[in-house]
Amino acid sequence: MWPGEKGSGEAIVIVEQVTEPFHDQAVHGSRESTGTTSLGIGGYGKPAYMTFTAPGLSNKATKKLIGVMQERLSAFNDLHLTLKHIHWNVVGANFIGVHEMIDPQVELTRGYADTVAERIATLGGSPNGTAKAIEHDRSWKDYSVGRDTVQAHLGALDLVYVGFISSHREAIAVAGEIDPVTEDMFIGQTAELEKFHWFVRAHLENSSGELSNAGTKTEAAAAKKSR
Ligand SMILES: [Fe+2]
Repeated sequence: MWPGEKGSGEAIVIVEQVTEPFHDQAVHGSRESTGTTSLGIGGYGKPAYMTFTAPGLSNKATKKLIGVMQERLSAFNDLHLTLKHIHWNVVGANFIGVHEMIDPQVELTRGYADTVAERIATLGGSPNGTAKAIEHDRSWKDYSVGRDTVQAHLGALDLVYVGFISSHREAIAVAGEIDPVTEDMFIGQTAELEKFHWFVRAHLENSSGELSNAGTKTEAAAAKKSR
């Protein structure tokens, strides 16, 4: 009888933090950091309790995997809000093309948040989708560009996607050591995110293949250089 199995009288309490925060490295490294590196298993708020997980997965590995998925859930929730913010604030030449290019990506990203949250629940965890969970789980500051031109926003959005996709690839690596089903989910999502990233970069690229925001490290700098 393993801990948490019906009748064992022992629930798996998921309250400790992963000792090596998964998003401590280059996660959203191109965005302004808040300095936050904590990763709450089960997300912000009440401790999450597991009493089961998927057959064949160990409890310890599942806890680590749920921590990674919670961080990615908050990242997806942050991303679809950021995309809507850009959809509302972009102005100038080529407005309508970019305004309308962004909405399908909002829907895709919201769908991925749902997929990740339901995977957490499938593995016995408790997904947290609140605004406070986003604030708690993320290691980057709010998107910093307000009303601005198409080129400025896309220059900054490029850095958002650099950070997001880098983090998602780290999630693939962690999941690959634990659960190929979750790994497969992250891989499929990354392919679609990378395709949209290409759409963004195509607006910043010249005929020599150089990006207008090359070398910038912050959204503000990327926006300024691309404007
Ligand atoms: Fe709209």
